[in-house]
Amino acid sequence: RLPQEVTIWEVGPRDGLQNEPTRLSTEEKIAWIDSLTDTGLTHIEVTSFVSPRWIPQLADAAEVFAGIKKKPGVVYSALVPNQQGLERALEVGMEAVAVFMSASESHNKKNINKTIAQTLPVLHSVTQMAKAQRAYVRGYVSTVFGCPYEGEVDVDQVLQIALSLLEDGVDEISLGDTIGVATPLQTERVLERLLKEIPQDRLALHMHDTRGTALANILVGLTMGITKIDSALGGLGGCPYAPGASGNVATDDLLYLLEGCKVNTGIDQAALLSSLVLLQNSVGHPLHSHASKIFQAQ
Ligand code: HMG
Ligand code: MG
Repeated sequence: RLPQEVTIWEVGPRDGLQNEPTRLSTEEKIAWIDSLTDTGLTHIEVTSFVSPRWIPQLADAAEVFAGIKKKPGVVYSALVPNQQGLERALEVGMEAVAVFMSASESHNKKNINKTIAQTLPVLHSVTQMAKAQRAYVRGYVSTVFGCPYEGEVDVDQVLQIALSLLEDGVDEISLGDTIGVATPLQTERVLERLLKEIPQDRLALHMHDTRGTALANILVGLTMGITKIDSALGGLGGCPYAPGASGNVATDDLLYLLEGCKVNTGIDQAALLSSLVLLQNSVGHPLHSHASKIFQAQ
């Protein structure tokens, strides 16, 4: 049984552009995000307030957020790795932020230059500060289904980190298959364990599609009651500090699946296609999604 409604959190402007070889101008980013707003999406992750040395593609975070139109009812979020990131985000008026860490030591160190034990108190204070400002806070847990450096990741480690972030006050946990290794039976096993301790409406799935299993894994999640799914238009995406990581599950492919299964998302397919065309023109190369190959062939 599938849910009647699913919330898609579009992460392309953040996860997609952080790993995109073509550097979009601030104006191009703003135009693309505005076109995403026009699709009916209710959640868009627009940028990251991380170190511009680590992710130069998103160094214009403040300008992008200042420039986009803010449609009432749409949640615009950004990644914040630490207090400095949160302060930059709050300064420009962001009302939703996402803290992030890994369930595996090596990826955590490569991505944010800290051990897991050093990261937890940082995210604790960032979350508390954000909640004090009434911001909505997501907590990403990366490498839930496998780590590029360590291979398998212990589901109990994932659970402990997720519970710790929830205790800090994060509103929801997004479970990252950072390098796209998950399979449906593994997804079921991991979710079964987590759902024993965490309500389903506080969990989201953030699947990269490196091996083509993302939609199958998402379908498993939907049948288990998960109704929040992250995706990136055209299948852009990937963590630059996770070797072998490729794009997120594509929003356009996910929408095709959900529409076909009569699951409501509130997103207009024609408007999403316009946004896809605009994105492809900006990046200047064909996109990875299945749906985009159809319009490229026309
Ligand atoms: P660090 O070098 O250890 O930081 O980086 P530091 O605290 O020692 O500071 C060093 C310098 O960075 C200082 O500047 C700080 O001011 C500056 P300096 O004095 O040398 O001129 N700095 C900052 N500047 C702007 N904004 C900030 C900030 N913080 C410090 N917020 C740090 C530590 C966490 C900053 C760095 O490692 C970093 O930015 N990492 C981010 C990496 C990243 O964005 N990765 C991709 C996103 S995660 C992902 O894709 C996974 C996800 O999609 C889920 C999934 O798929 O699994 C979410
Ligand atoms: Mg990601």
